[in-house]
Amino acid sequence: MRLRVFQTQRDAGVYTAAQVERIILEEERPVLGLATGSTPIPLYEALVHLYQSGLDMAHVTTINLDEYIGIPAMHPQSYRFFMQHNLFRHVNVPLSQIHIPDGMALDLPAECARYDEVIRKHPIHLQVLGIGVNGHIGFNEPDDLLVSKTHVVHLRQETVESNARFFASLDDVPKRAITMGVQAILQAQHIVLMAFGEEKADIVARAILGEVRTDVPASILQLHRDVTVILDEGSASKIDAASRTATVV
Ligand code: PGA
Repeated sequence: MRLRVFQTQRDAGVYTAAQVERIILEEERPVLGLATGSTPIPLYEALVHLYQSGLDMAHVTTINLDEYIGIPAMHPQSYRFFMQHNLFRHVNVPLSQIHIPDGMALDLPAECARYDEVIRKHPIHLQVLGIGVNGHIGFNEPDDLLVSKTHVVHLRQETVESNARFFASLDDVPKRAITMGVQAILQAQHIVLMAFGEEKADIVARAILGEVRTDVPASILQLHRDVTVILDEGSASKIDAASRTATVV
């Protein structure tokens, strides 16, 4: 794992966008695995700036990690809406090349299988990840086991509470989601894990310096050969100086 600690989230976003641009320029048919939440917003802002400065994204395919079950695409808190609002309406990725699980699908197992087929056909070059306060990646929640394929997940109470800040009340927060499994994440060629703020400091330290454990799902990233962890001073505050300067954590 490589570790980069930035003074500001904006700097971190610009750095990550440069990694994304490199993939977009190097690959003939670049495939980006994308995340939602507050963490990747500085990345998407920087990517929009790159697009406005001449970066063509017409040949890019995107595959999002997850989607809530039971709220329609037009709902302001759906991840489809988030992606449209923060990235897709500003850039030129064609709609047909944008993939997000359908949280309104009537047949959820079929939707999960369809999504795995999308991932199989479009191997991910670079996967962007946030990390939940409980260590989840995508919506792969802490558990006795981690599920490899795309699946329906019942969100943990701490995740529902963390997401409640975006909804009118706790009752309005969806309790289930479709998420990409850990296999697709680990099969990405490159992974960038982003985390900002002191509330992520403990879990970041456990994920990258602790043991690999299914109750800290992000720790599984230690098994991947090309992960860059992108932090700010707050999220890096529980990582000692020696680990910070090591090339490989
Ligand atoms: P956040 O969510 O970026 O809104 O903190 C991260 C996550 O839950 O993966």
